[in-house]
Amino acid sequence: VSGRLRCLSFHSVKGGVGKSTLSTVAAVQIAAAEPGVPVYLIDMDLTGTSLADVLPIEAPCWSGVAQNAPINLLSKPGGFHPRGDLQDLLAARELRDVSSDVIGVPFLNDFLLFATPDWDAQEEVPIASVAWRLTDGPQNLRVLPSSALPIDLERTLPVIYDEEHAGFLEARLEYLLDELVPSSGDVVVVFDTPPTIPGLSRSVLSLAFRLSRTPKTALSEDGQMPFRLEEAELDWKAFLVATLDYQDLRAAERWLSLVPEGDQSVITPLLNRAPSGDPQQVEALVREALLYSANPMLLRAIPVEEDPSLQLFRGERVPPVRDDLIRRILGKP
Ligand SMILES: Nc1ncnc2c1ncn2[C@@H]1O[C@H](COP(=O)(O)OP(=O)(O)OP(=O)(O)O)[C@@H](O)[C@H]1O
Ligand SMILES: [Mg+2]
Repeated sequence: VSGRLRCLSFHSVKGGVGKSTLSTVAAVQIAAAEPGVPVYLIDMDLTGTSLADVLPIEAPCWSGVAQNAPINLLSKPGGFHPRGDLQDLLAARELRDVSSDVIGVPFLNDFLLFATPDWDAQEEVPIASVAWRLTDGPQNLRVLPSSALPIDLERTLPVIYDEEHAGFLEARLEYLLDELVPSSGDVVVVFDTPPTIPGLSRSVLSLAFRLSRTPKTALSEDGQMPFRLEEAELDWKAFLVATLDYQDLRAAERWLSLVPEGDQSVITPLLNRAPSGDPQQVEALVREALLYSANPMLLRAIPVEEDPSLQLFRGERVPPVRDDLIRRILGKP
């Protein structure tokens, strides 16, 4: 018997529509509302702005390891660095040579691209080694930021843009989720993904579809799936975020039309920066924009209104608590 994984992921065709904002608000809100539930915010935008640059978060710290010495990710960290040390730690990471040693601060990249020297070894990076915390945030929330530092792009770009590696990244994500499966109770995982659907966003979505089927579908042809994940109860909501901009709506429609019918229940369209949070008003605007021929899923999209309090990435603010918004997004009364 095992616990339940509740996953949320935010996807979009266009960039800049609010995925990072909404995933951050969702993670903070759920963590605040359910203090006993561990919540993980996972920054899959490996080539974009790192959440470490826009949120007040603190990196894991290994006591006794000098700032310019390699970190052993296989050993668990003992605490967190003060936020003020971050610039020096990032500089130490940038200055390392191209070896796979991790110096200064760990990022999600280090988990995703981690390969033990001996593939047979049962060693895996504990999630704690790449889990940062939000200064003054809920204690049960951890953020796994990615790094787009030039030295990291050298390693990640070939993996992300080579279709041959898509399966590798999806398998790594599967391992990550496997590690997060609780033995009882719930764990919440929120994925922020990069814009456009191919690449990493596709890997997250493919995982969402596979794990939401009954029975779950394995990635590999041998049908093997990480054990805990296979046993776990899984509840995944993938949001397609768009705005009311005409081209964005058209692109979202096209995207929705490509989702296989059997997987559609995983997807929830969400219209961000709407003039109103009233679903009927926003439905009327969608009908008007798309000349009365809109995809029915898009007509039922959840509206999130334009709201200056959601501009959280200006000046590294701790995200506001927005219970009303999250209830609407999660479809709770
Ligand atoms: N509902 C909202 N009301 C007001 N501003 C918003 C809202 N949602 C997002 N924004 C603002 O829109 C901008 C883009 O948001 P965000 O960075 O979350 O988008 P994104 O989809 O993650 O972008 P990217 O595709 O580049 O990763 C930010 O400045 C953010 O503050
Ligand atoms: Mg983003």
